Amino acid sequence: MGTVKVHDKTFEIYITEAEIQQRVKEIAEQINKDYAGKRPLFIAILNGSFMFAADLFKHLRIEAELCFIKLASYKGMKSSGKVVTSIGLEEDLFGKEVIIVEDIVDTGKTLHNFLPKLMHQQPKSMKITALLHKSAATEYPLTLDYVGFDIPNKFVVGYGLDYDGLGRNLKEIYQVI
Ligand code: IMP
Ligand code: MG
Repeated sequence: MGTVKVHDKTFEIYITEAEIQQRVKEIAEQINKDYAGKRPLFIAILNGSFMFAADLFKHLRIEAELCFIKLASYKGMKSSGKVVTSIGLEEDLFGKEVIIVEDIVDTGKTLHNFLPKLMHQQPKSMKITALLHKSAATEYPLTLDYVGFDIPNKFVVGYGLDYDGLGRNLKEIYQVI
């Protein structure tokens, strides 16, 4: 107990199930207050955010919509590098109150590149919730509105997050030793 092996690496427990559940509930309660009388659309980024999105949603008492999308990056034609595109976004965001749901923000690159695409559709507002934030790893500026835990720049698995495809099923979050 306390440690798990995923592929070739050993991880030790870092955030317990109870701590995660408590924090997720607190974030949901804050959102319930901030969005009282509104009807936000939650856009959860697959695969990592599926557990966080599900638990967060259970605690919402406001009217809310939810969709899941997948991000794919490919090399753009120009030297500007990676282009991020989304798969599965059918909703029209015009005039909507959007909340992005992410499992973890590391360098910030993924969302930094993707947000302008969403803003292009002119949502009424756009906020981000991330369960985990490696704030010391920030390379791309990004404002996170609801953060679960600020964690050190070490690799973690569990509660939706994977190491090379495995570890998502763990109820706790584990840090590499
Ligand atoms: P960013 O674009 O650098 O912010 O990276 C975000 C993505 O990298 C996340 O959505 C995860 O898929 C992945 N990632 C970053 N750090 C970790 C980690 O510690 N464990 C698992 N996945 C991670
Ligand atoms: Mg992710």
